[in-house]
Amino acid sequence: MSDPLDDADRAARHPHPALPAPTRRGFLKSAGAATGALATALPGTPAAAAPTTAAPPLPPPPRPAPPPRRITLTVNGARHELLVEARVTLLDALREHLALYGTKKGCDRGQCGACTVLVDGRRINSCLTLAVMQEDRAITTIEGLGRPGALHAMQAAFIEHDAFQCGYCTPGQICSAVALVQEARDGQASAITADLRQPAALDDDEIRERMSGNLCRCGAYPNIVKAVRVVAAIRPIA
Ligand code: FES
Ligand code: FES
Repeated sequence: MSDPLDDADRAARHPHPALPAPTRRGFLKSAGAATGALATALPGTPAAAAPTTAAPPLPPPPRPAPPPRRITLTVNGARHELLVEARVTLLDALREHLALYGTKKGCDRGQCGACTVLVDGRRINSCLTLAVMQEDRAITTIEGLGRPGALHAMQAAFIEHDAFQCGYCTPGQICSAVALVQEARDGQASAITADLRQPAALDDDEIRERMSGNLCRCGAYPNIVKAVRVVAAIRPIA
């Protein structure tokens, strides 16, 4: 029950008659609410403690690696049984399992061509294929192209025309060049072949374009092109 005298006094002093006149009880209520809100916002007060959040779920444990597989690779005419994990590249299988170190690892990501080998006569980057994918294929590495005293024509041309300096890229260059000559003879066009109706003549531009996947840090390109051009003019080049 409110005091009628207080009510009359408040009404007389209230400047906005259209709004309800404030009461003492209403004032105390709103003041208490404001104080509580402030306490929750201030650090160090019990009400301001950080809200608890649920811990994120743990990631699932890693799956165990699949067991190694027994595969057979035919490399340079010889069959080899290997026990390899499915993730092993052909490049690593050649080098680490078969000790064929002629095939080089440059970038290990398909950018330099140092790892080029022939698979069924086609050149591929052996760092970009898995060994388990190459069963029942004929794989040829630089060791299988020729040997001392019986070099492949391309190997001999590289030596004769001084087509290397450090030699690191050379096995890949030679494998690539051997395939390149055959590709042109089979009528395969390159990105710059002008007339697609007939086999491209292997001029220097065609050779440069077709060898563009094989990088040489020593910059032996002019002599590499010369060696390939000379061999391309020979028929056949086995
Ligand atoms: S090592 Fe394969 S492309 Fe460079
Ligand atoms: S000869 Fe050295 S990288 Fe080609």
